[in-house]
Amino acid sequence: MAQEARCVWQARAVLGEGPLWSPRQDAVYFVDIRGSRILRHGLSDGSQAGWDLDDAACWLVESADGDGFIAGLRSRRVVRLRLEPGRAVVAGEIARIEPDKPGNRLNDGKADRDGRLWVGSMDDAEEAPAGSFYRIDTDGAVTPVDEGYTVANGPALAPDGRTIYHTDSAARTIYAFDIGADGSLSGKRVHIRFTEADGYPDGMTCDAEGGLWVCHWDGGRVSRFRPDGTLDRAIALPVSRVTSCVFAGPDLDRLFITTAAHGRPDEPLAGSLFECDPGVRGLPPGQFGSPLR
Ligand code: BGC
Ligand code: CA
Repeated sequence: MAQEARCVWQARAVLGEGPLWSPRQDAVYFVDIRGSRILRHGLSDGSQAGWDLDDAACWLVESADGDGFIAGLRSRRVVRLRLEPGRAVVAGEIARIEPDKPGNRLNDGKADRDGRLWVGSMDDAEEAPAGSFYRIDTDGAVTPVDEGYTVANGPALAPDGRTIYHTDSAARTIYAFDIGADGSLSGKRVHIRFTEADGYPDGMTCDAEGGLWVCHWDGGRVSRFRPDGTLDRAIALPVSRVTSCVFAGPDLDRLFITTAAHGRPDEPLAGSLFECDPGVRGLPPGQFGSPLR
């Protein structure tokens, strides 16, 4: 592994996750699921800010109408969230997922270029395959598209918007699906399997060439896999619990990586935000509510 990532913010996130680049603000936001915080790293001025939440956010996407964020909460609600100076305000509910499964929480979620959301749930205890994968349409309608996940993770969309990758971390397996014109999924197949030595596949994102960047929880690295699923290269981190990554910056040529301090008291940089030069450009982030064309 020739390349290493550098620490840009020693944020000590308990479970840093869900990094998002905001083109409007040129800032990287990420969540601390177990620390119930949202954190913001401004790229143009290097500023850092944080918000405490009562109900932890598990992921964030921007709203296409410019009115703040859409967040998936630990309580399995999808809400509109406004981040005001010093306080986070829940400004309306978009969807409610699994009201009958109090042992579950939401985990990772993304918006696609048609403005829809793809969201996974999981057993908060990480023991039972009680999690599912959902599509949430722009009108808030929730449709289950797959089930049986112990730790649903890292939806990532391919550049053509017709393939989606989704992971069961506990099963060390990344799946690929075809997305139909109506948003239905078909053709579920194993795309990549991790070995024990690789750790667990966690958050993912696709670059503009179709490469899939996968974070290794308990594997201390981010790997890029070619579209055929073969390993291209890896970037090392000085911490073991690497959770998710996102392309950022006006040219989408910077890769930011979140990590977790949870269970790793001996790693001084665990829970930090890292950056590396990926040598390839990413795809613009999706936004909830209207097509990116
Ligand atoms: C989840 C954690 C889990 C980890 C590795 C993360 O996305 O939020 O709870 O331990 O993946 O499986
Ligand atoms: Ca994750």
